[in-house]
Amino acid sequence: MKEIFTLPNLKEAQKRTHTDAKIERSLFHISEEAKRLGIGRKYFLRTYGCQANERDGQTIRGILEEMGYLPVMEADTADLIILNTCAVRKNAEDKVFGEIGQLKRFKLKNPDLMFVVCGCMTQEEEVVQTILLKHPHIDLIFGTHNIHRLPDLLYQATLTRERVIEVYSQEGDVIENLPVRRDNSAKAWVNIMYGCDKFCTYCIVPYTRGKERSRTREDILEEISTLIQDGCQEVTLLGQNVNAYGKDLYGENCFADLLRSVSETGIARIRFTTSHPWDFTDELIDVIAQYPNVMPYVHLPVQSGNAEILRIMGRRYTPEDYMTLFNKLRARIPGAAFSTDIIVGFPNETEAQFEDTLRLFQECKFDGAFTFVYSPREGTPAANMVDNVPLEEKRSRLQILNKKVAQYALENNLRMVDKIVNVLVDGPSKKNSDVYSGYTENNKLVNFKPIRECINEIVQVRITKAKTWTLDGEQVE
Ligand code: SAH
Ligand code: SF4
Ligand code: F3S
Repeated sequence: MKEIFTLPNLKEAQKRTHTDAKIERSLFHISEEAKRLGIGRKYFLRTYGCQANERDGQTIRGILEEMGYLPVMEADTADLIILNTCAVRKNAEDKVFGEIGQLKRFKLKNPDLMFVVCGCMTQEEEVVQTILLKHPHIDLIFGTHNIHRLPDLLYQATLTRERVIEVYSQEGDVIENLPVRRDNSAKAWVNIMYGCDKFCTYCIVPYTRGKERSRTREDILEEISTLIQDGCQEVTLLGQNVNAYGKDLYGENCFADLLRSVSETGIARIRFTTSHPWDFTDELIDVIAQYPNVMPYVHLPVQSGNAEILRIMGRRYTPEDYMTLFNKLRARIPGAAFSTDIIVGFPNETEAQFEDTLRLFQECKFDGAFTFVYSPREGTPAANMVDNVPLEEKRSRLQILNKKVAQYALENNLRMVDKIVNVLVDGPSKKNSDVYSGYTENNKLVNFKPIRECINEIVQVRITKAKTWTLDGEQVE
């Protein structure tokens, strides 16, 4: 088989220059030939990882559906399988390799099936080399910077039967005017910036996603105004560090301004993620506190409660800085809920350092947390550190922490009982179709029996019961 290669290179991906990111408005087009490629064909897409990747998945859907492909929920009937992958931890990657192995049987049954891998994993040299060596049934590999090339790449791979690999290792541009296929008409993710320049020493994201680069205020506000016209009630502004929004285009502290402008569009609900504790200004706190349509929920990853570990992680704040910010937010935004991300078992983390994390957690009494065992990522500085903490010890720390997470999740939920809250209704719950579910303003999942049809509406619900991860309620209007 002939092969067409542009391979990834993590060293190149790490480079940052002072060149401004280009805003490309007309890079995406579908050639006449490619436009017909999907007619009569079905695609199956699975996305792993964070909201940024989910949002990319919606772009991929948008592109494929413009090419005539129809979505299917099961891979066995698909003519095209795409795995949109995440590289943040080894177990995320293992899952994908497991899936690649599983899905291989469909390719053996149907040699015309196109098997595609994209997303953050394909930005890693090692991953692409492994696929080349061990998974010859993969037909096309592309990266996070060239989603707009999908029609051409698919056309090449389908028509020529050559294996195509095209991954750019670059800082990245801002590519506008890509199609999008959203699955919920009331809620939308809106990218406000891409990439990350923080280079926390454990993290692969700056290598897989390129440099921090912002969309213009006009492009963001125009997208939101179209969403409002289409009936959207809630937008979540997305970036790896939303507080750094606009630095590259307009200077310091632009996120507060952007949030104010989005709020003034009148959309019912605004959320944002992720905020880095660094760069979280008082002005931003003011905007969150003042505007009722900015939802009272902040996801504020702390990673560790120990100063030395935070320093080695390159997080640029101390536990005291974090607590000062956290307490300000709690005092200024009544009824707000808070969640966080924590890594346990960072190289050489001592028992005492882990206990600092537990103490900080107890002090903040978070409503929720995503907790992880540290996973070494090839190419990052932390991966070269000698580590004296055994894996069983790390796992046991995770268990101890997770008990605390569940304890405070329940305690916070219990405080919601008897309150009447606004819920944006998603629709029938996953477990029981007689019950509808939706989220409160402070981002808690509520299940209730609807008294009328109310999908995609904001309704009032009285909370009747608190569980650890969800609330039960009854609709009051
Ligand atoms: N930009 C966000 C986080 C994106 S990655 C932020 O800085 O807050 C999501 C989470 O994955 C991180 O917050 C961190 O807790 C976790 N994570 C990232 N790299 C990891 C690694 N190598 N091992 C374990 N967890 C990791
Ligand atoms: Fe990773 Fe740190 Fe950037 Fe978050 S801020 S994406 S943890 S490097
Ligand atoms: Fe994973 Fe890439 Fe997101 S590594 S967490 S999918 S930015």
